[in-house]
Amino acid sequence: MSTPDRIEELLSATKSAFMSGALVRLKLGGYHGSEPDLKSIEVKKITVKDGDKFSFTYRYKTRDIIKNFIQPEALALLRSGLKDEFRSAQLATTEFDMGFERNGAKMRLKRTEVSGREAPSTDHNRAKNRPLTVTDKPWLKALGIAGKDGVVRNDAQDKFRQINKMVEIFAPLIHAIKTERPLIVDMGAGKGYLDFALYDYLANVANRPAGIVGVEMREQLVSDGNSTAQQSGFDGLSFQAGTIMDFDASGADAVIALHACDTATDDAIFKGINAGAALIAVAPCCHKQIRRQMEAGQPDGRLEVMLRHGIFLERQAEMVTDTLRALLLELNGYKTKVFEFVSDAHTPKNNLIVAEKDGRLGRDRDAVLKQIAEIKTMFGIEQHYLEGLLGL
Ligand SMILES: C[S@@+](CC[C@H](N)C(=O)[O-])C[C@H]1O[C@@H](n2cnc3c(N)ncnc32)[C@H](O)[C@@H]1O
Repeated sequence: MSTPDRIEELLSATKSAFMSGALVRLKLGGYHGSEPDLKSIEVKKITVKDGDKFSFTYRYKTRDIIKNFIQPEALALLRSGLKDEFRSAQLATTEFDMGFERNGAKMRLKRTEVSGREAPSTDHNRAKNRPLTVTDKPWLKALGIAGKDGVVRNDAQDKFRQINKMVEIFAPLIHAIKTERPLIVDMGAGKGYLDFALYDYLANVANRPAGIVGVEMREQLVSDGNSTAQQSGFDGLSFQAGTIMDFDASGADAVIALHACDTATDDAIFKGINAGAALIAVAPCCHKQIRRQMEAGQPDGRLEVMLRHGIFLERQAEMVTDTLRALLLELNGYKTKVFEFVSDAHTPKNNLIVAEKDGRLGRDRDAVLKQIAEIKTMFGIEQHYLEGLLGL
């Protein structure tokens, strides 16, 4: 059989399974296309208001993106993906599996019969993969997101979307941690929105149990959080009163801090580094420490034209603070990325620094230290608070 026919054979089997309700999933792997960090695509059938669709979950290194397509669009996308970008695919149906492999122009397709397998329900299939579709939950009510009737309140729709988004971002990051039951510490947990949502998702949807501890200095929030966790039956979620610096984070696999104020973010990073956490993820809040130093110090004269405008000074302080944080993480064996994690329509404080420990310093240590020194000189900074914590 000529090579392109293998693709058509797989697509035809996928289409028939889709139409007969026998499709379990089609997974495309071995990606070698041009999209950075795309790993695989998982395709399922879903039934939405306007009919049956192919639901594509694009799995990136740190997040998933879901897009739904009508049949002709989906098949065209699959066809070109299999031809050019993906080296392998696994089709699972209720009756048989098909494994596809492409090596240059050579293609192989292997069919194996299976029995006793059921197709997943397609109704709200996408919603089922999300943590917060069942909204009649004690924690959503306690946090004021759902009303007494268990339905998301109109004025909490934005918050609800944000929480969903955070879980979409954090779940794959937690998933990548090798520990069987990772310990996640959320520094400056506040009311614990992220903790409840993530715990619920990991325990009840993703079947990836984790322990979560929220550290918070406001005692009332801690006691409210603990009673809601108890009411929800979330045995592995607890809140502890105290400061980030006083918390013993040893044994933490992930240290997270969302909008912990100013240098509290650095306290969290420091605790994560000291614990050797596999993941450190922080969404910084205000950047006062570096802003004050830029105002008091002597930045490069050429920057004066920018820094005399308060708003630009603020933005520069944010970029400089977080660039230095990323470099200091790199210096400690973390591979670091910075990206926007919720739309800036929700909050202007929407950058997330994600650092994953790989133990290696990607570059020469002296080169990183030199870069840190140069940035500090350029912006008139004496010392980043995190440098002090790290004894630099
Ligand atoms: C802006 S809130 C964010 C809460 C939560 N992370 C969220 O995103 O919804 C910051 C929280 O961090 C707490 N916090 C700030 N500095 C802290 C510290 N050094 N130790 C413990 N908690 C701290 C504050 O009390 C506050 O509840």
